[in-house]
Amino acid sequence: MLIDIISVFPEYFDVFNLSLLGKAQDKGLLTFNVHNLRDWTHDVHHSVDDTPVGGGAGMVMKPEVWANCLDDLLDIPPLEDISDADPHIGENSHTTLVFPNPSAPTFTQADATELSYTDHLIFGCGRYEGYDGRIPAYYKAQGFDVREYSIGDYVLNGGEVAVSVMVEATTRLIDGFMGNRDSIVKESYTGSEGLLEHRQYTKPTSWRGMDVPEILLSGHHANIDRFRRDEELRRTSDIRPDIIEKLGCRMLDKKDRKL
Ligand code: ADE
Repeated sequence: MLIDIISVFPEYFDVFNLSLLGKAQDKGLLTFNVHNLRDWTHDVHHSVDDTPVGGGAGMVMKPEVWANCLDDLLDIPPLEDISDADPHIGENSHTTLVFPNPSAPTFTQADATELSYTDHLIFGCGRYEGYDGRIPAYYKAQGFDVREYSIGDYVLNGGEVAVSVMVEATTRLIDGFMGNRDSIVKESYTGSEGLLEHRQYTKPTSWRGMDVPEILLSGHHANIDRFRRDEELRRTSDIRPDIIEKLGCRMLDKKDRKL
């Protein structure tokens, strides 16, 4: 997978060279190209923003600079070279453009799974009051797959942290990324049909007067599975009743209903 990231603070992404993301690059599973948006400016101040049309506080990122950069990364020929017969230049592209935006739908595990099957992702990090609204609309109109996502109901200073979250959630799902694929499949939001995962324990089995649940020491796998499933149901209905409501009775088995 090729991941291009556009930001006015490219240093933010130096951390991608660490840990599993670094290893995935060494293994050739992933290539990151981090670009400084200011490299596509043509003025002496390398300005990327301007005041909002219609008034208001803050600054908005200019569409021309973003388009200079995105056209380059998407290999779009200069406008004068595009024939009228080819208005939807992105229709056969395997690239997905992702823009973090606090006013967009929330990024979910299902979105991460979908993005993990993509060959080429381009993430554009907004700053200030965000990017000009015509940018996502323009590339959508050209036939590109364009997504805007929020990572939660709070406002960050820019898109860099949100992109880091989306990159990590997505890339760990790529085949070959994790040593043990089971650890991806059986975890919150994907294992147990979307329930929150049960708690985990390790040795020592008794620590500071606290014992791990006895049933986990029994060696009786069916009972252990039942215990874990019950805990997942209980945790989910306590912490995230919205998930239970969304799943409905579909995922409950007869024993679950006795809870
Ligand atoms: N940019 C600023 N806040 C954000 C958020 N919550 N999600 C995505 N992008 C953002």
